Amino acid sequence: MANVRLSGVDKAFGKVKVLEGINLDIKDGEFVVFVGPSGCGKSTLLRVIAGLEDITRGTLEIGGETVNDRTPKERGIAMVFQSYALYPHMSVYDNMAFGLRLDKGSGRDAVDKRVREAARILQIEPYLDRLPKELSGGQRQRVAIGRAITRDPAVFLFDEPLSNLDAALRVQTRIEIARLHEKMPDTTMIYVTHDQVEAMTLADRIVVLNKGRVEQVGTPLELYHRPDNLFVAQFIGSPAMNILPATFNTSQNALRVVPEGGNGLTLSLPEGIAVSQGPGHLGVRPESLRLVGAGEEALIEGEVTLVELLGEVTLVYVDIGRQDDPVVAKLAGEAAIERGENVRLAADAEDLQLFDKSGRALRRDPLQKAA
Ligand SMILES: Nc1ncnc2c1ncn2[C@@H]1O[C@H](COP(=O)(O)OP(=O)(O)OP(=O)(O)O)[C@@H](O)[C@H]1O
Ligand SMILES: [Mg+2]
Repeated sequence: MANVRLSGVDKAFGKVKVLEGINLDIKDGEFVVFVGPSGCGKSTLLRVIAGLEDITRGTLEIGGETVNDRTPKERGIAMVFQSYALYPHMSVYDNMAFGLRLDKGSGRDAVDKRVREAARILQIEPYLDRLPKELSGGQRQRVAIGRAITRDPAVFLFDEPLSNLDAALRVQTRIEIARLHEKMPDTTMIYVTHDQVEAMTLADRIVVLNKGRVEQVGTPLELYHRPDNLFVAQFIGSPAMNILPATFNTSQNALRVVPEGGNGLTLSLPEGIAVSQGPGHLGVRPESLRLVGAGEEALIEGEVTLVELLGEVTLVYVDIGRQDDPVVAKLAGEAAIERGENVRLAADAEDLQLFDKSGRALRRDPLQKAA
């Protein structure tokens, strides 16, 4: 059992600052997922927590104690990497027992009990006598996780553990990791991934990192519905949220939003929100857009440049006069639309997001269309 707290943590490699001013409070037993673009510092942050990298400035507490100067082993942490790094000449059983046997004071029976318990949790009991090469990729990754479980860590760190697996195995192993968290509710888990679905489904809270800084921390749905800024808005969700430069005009209780190249709409002005006049951004998710006929009010219209039929949904790319930057609409099922057609798209007021010129979200409860 352990919470993990980072206060003002910086990490630099020589002169290169990789993490800056990281403040995070991860609760005991929480499942936290780090996401962010390649090179933003996710792995470095995990390695700092594990003690594989020292901290340039700030403090790291685990279970209420400052651990900046403790070795990885003293921190009660286990880490699972993208490459499973099993010993090829050892059986699954011996791979899982190896670390335990090195610890003085673990008797043979105690080791056996821990290995079998981990194998049971991960459903790899039938493979204990096999060599790693006799297993599938997913089974191997489960052995690597099992090896970490046997150490009975207070904090479990995962760095993209599923990225070497094919799509079907990823799904299966992801479900197993969710189950693992349920079976080990006292173990704090910190997980790095590039995969939106893994982040959304596994996380109690997601931490969005960008260039070594925390952009936003929140539950998956908070980040999806209420991103703090344009970066988070476009990072969470796939395809990404459409962002349209827009002009805001306020008058009394109404806010007129006119997207560039679009038709504009009038929203009732949320109370307590000061919207500055002039330029800003309007955000609308592809799944919030729908086709409307000529008689209905549209938000934007343009020519279809590409249609992607994915079976369950159709992605429609619409040219609204921005070079190589089409608006994307995600329509349910197989939409009967062809390239070259002109379409009109609308969205409900409560599904729109507004951002000021600097990209900061205008915080508010869902917007309403003005009466
Ligand atoms: N040992 C090191 N020495 C110098 N620079 C490093 C070192 N390790 C990482 N970096 C740099 O720190 C930055 C963050 O790297 P990190 O591996 O944490 O990114 P990441 O978010 O995990 O990326 P990815 O998603 O590609 O795995 C990168 O610019 C990287 O080049
Ligand atoms: Mg990484």
